[in-house]
Amino acid sequence: MPGLGWATDPHLNFVSPERLDCFCGELIAENPEAVLLTGDLAEAPSLGGILTRIEQNVQRPVYFVLGNHDYYRSSIERVRNAVAQHCRASKWLTYLNTAGVVELSRETALVGHDGWGDAGYGAYWLSRVRLSDFELITDFIGLDRGALWRRLRELGAEAGEHFRSVLAQALPRYRNVIIATHVPPFDRAAWHEGRMSEPGWLPYFSCKAAGEAIREAFENHPQCRGLVVCGHTHGGGEVDILPNLHVTTGAAVYEKPAAQRVLPWT
Ligand SMILES: [Fe+2]
Ligand SMILES: [Fe+2]
Repeated sequence: MPGLGWATDPHLNFVSPERLDCFCGELIAENPEAVLLTGDLAEAPSLGGILTRIEQNVQRPVYFVLGNHDYYRSSIERVRNAVAQHCRASKWLTYLNTAGVVELSRETALVGHDGWGDAGYGAYWLSRVRLSDFELITDFIGLDRGALWRRLRELGAEAGEHFRSVLAQALPRYRNVIIATHVPPFDRAAWHEGRMSEPGWLPYFSCKAAGEAIREAFENHPQCRGLVVCGHTHGGGEVDILPNLHVTTGAAVYEKPAAQRVLPWT
């Protein structure tokens, strides 16, 4: 069927190879044409092996972005370079950060970028939250609060620039665009236990710069429809940002990787 078998935050480094195979089976149970993964697939040391096992299992295009956990025990640059190299040698894998606009049909395109919790929403300076990211990703180790804020803002800005560029290409050509990202790009999409995340968590649970770029693009193209799919907070929810822009945040549970609904296209 013309659709994307979607999953988010499977954290496959926490499960057995047999459980991973079973998860892949679930992803393609409805025989979608392709698969979409919105990050936190594994951690850096296991990511390559897990990507290989996924593509061997599903035997169809696998589009993906990475989440913060995928960088654990390495650096952002090292992981992105390794993944880009892995994709070049692969028949099925496409890392959306480097893919531009992917045509799914004459009417529908797919774009994507990791995004990052960019300290744009919520109360960064008052927050007592300290993510494992800041101990386990080399880029953040040893940064003081100010330097960390600047780095998070830069990572968010990079995602925003990416979406501005790919949506400027996609929206004049396609009526429907699916936007894949790891971090919810709006505060109202940062679902946690059925409500919006607390102000102390929002800086890390939303990517404001990406959201501003996405919202602006769809405001300027009211004839187009956008569906954002994301994860990261592990709390599921739905929200309309504009009449033509909807966000689905996928729920996830550690050690229980599961497929979300298939995303159909026309
Ligand atoms: Fe996650
Ligand atoms: Fe995450």
